[in-house]
Amino acid sequence: MKQSAKGYRFLHPFTFMNNPLQATAEEVRQTYPCLTKGEGAWVYDDAGNRYLYLSTAVPTVGLGNRRVIQAMTEQYETLSFASTCAQGHPFANQLSERLTRIAHHEHAMVFFSNDGSGAVETAMKLVRQYYRSKGEPQRTRFLSFEGSYHGTTFGSGSVTHMGIKESFGPGLEGCFSIPAPHLYRPPVAGDEAAFEQYCLEQLEKTILTLGADTIAAILIEPIQGVNGVVLFPQDFWQKVQCIARRYDLLLIADEVGTGLGRTGHWLASHHYGIKPDLVALSKGLTGGYFPMGATIISEEIIAELYKEGGIFLHGSTLCGHPVACVAALTILEMIEQDGLLEQARQRGEWILNRLKQSLLDHPQVGDIRGMGMMLAIELVSNRETKTSVSFAWSRAFTATLRQAGILANFFNGVLSMYPPLTLSDDEADYLVTRLIDVLAKMPKEEKHG
Ligand SMILES: Cc1ncc(COP(=O)(O)O)c(C=O)c1O
Repeated sequence: MKQSAKGYRFLHPFTFMNNPLQATAEEVRQTYPCLTKGEGAWVYDDAGNRYLYLSTAVPTVGLGNRRVIQAMTEQYETLSFASTCAQGHPFANQLSERLTRIAHHEHAMVFFSNDGSGAVETAMKLVRQYYRSKGEPQRTRFLSFEGSYHGTTFGSGSVTHMGIKESFGPGLEGCFSIPAPHLYRPPVAGDEAAFEQYCLEQLEKTILTLGADTIAAILIEPIQGVNGVVLFPQDFWQKVQCIARRYDLLLIADEVGTGLGRTGHWLASHHYGIKPDLVALSKGLTGGYFPMGATIISEEIIAELYKEGGIFLHGSTLCGHPVACVAALTILEMIEQDGLLEQARQRGEWILNRLKQSLLDHPQVGDIRGMGMMLAIELVSNRETKTSVSFAWSRAFTATLRQAGILANFFNGVLSMYPPLTLSDDEADYLVTRLIDVLAKMPKEEKHG
């Protein structure tokens, strides 16, 4: 089809664009890769360039996996759609059973949505309805942590404290942020124990100031993905869970990014030894083969909401789509049968160790961190002040990475990388070698700030 000389019609999400009405498709293509093919851990653009695909944390078993495609194709041929509103199909319940087992929440239930934002939104609505049902309708507020990303809907966007919601004016009332004990960029001076304690005190102080009986839930993102694979002290989430229990607040774990193998565990909550009341999942659940989100809901919440029968007035037309359920069931089976949790854990550790051995002395490398197949390098212009690299340096860096055959996320000076759990030894070696080469080629960043 002939494209008009001027004017580009597709509005990209979360993407800076020069005036698209003045641009041509070709100009946009030169700025952002146009992907035409994907195979395993690799994608190809329309000029035939090949990249190791590390963006988004979505592909779990890589792209174009024959087993997933075959299962989905069979489902398309037998029942390509079925509503789950007052009707159903076998795979929605099969997947729910599997997810509750994986989450170690055997008596829980599962609600499906179409994405991660929808899974978080569902959790927020459920806790509001839960407290209304318990005769505490004033419990409407939500606490979440600075730097956490929970999604784009008005609810999930309002508990996201990353300078995004400010674009849209007032969001959901009653959403408060708590400082997070970022290990590389702590909110206050002092050692790990001191800044962790500070954040816990701020959490408790906020609860007491607002009144515990006005708060519905605390939302956590166990490892902050969008914020740059940010890890917290090992026992932090257990301590947060203790505070939630003390004040009778529900705990929502947003495991949209961390869940289902990404960290080398079924859930990051397992690694941190916590048992949230609700868990939001998406990304790795269907590995990009179909849009889907899921919210795991504790038995206690269900028992309250449905004690005399009940209804959750929420959902969307396509939620629990049979093809999505079959894709998810196949992927979860592969993770189990192919030992992908263990593989992600070990390979991730190997990559992290090699990056640390080779790059920790590089003048632009401030921090190297991660868990499983969730890895990041934070780049700074000055290692003492931890000032982030400049915009110009960042642009040159991402362009050089692209030339070296790597597509990853770059935001606020942090290169975040999410290889599929199936990444091979050779691919891991490719990743490390290319990163070292690219950083060696980069000009030294001016030591300002
Ligand atoms: C932790 C977390 N929660 C929620 C979301 C929102 O998911 P989606 O983009 O599928 O709506 C994301 C997306 O990056 C995420 O990383």
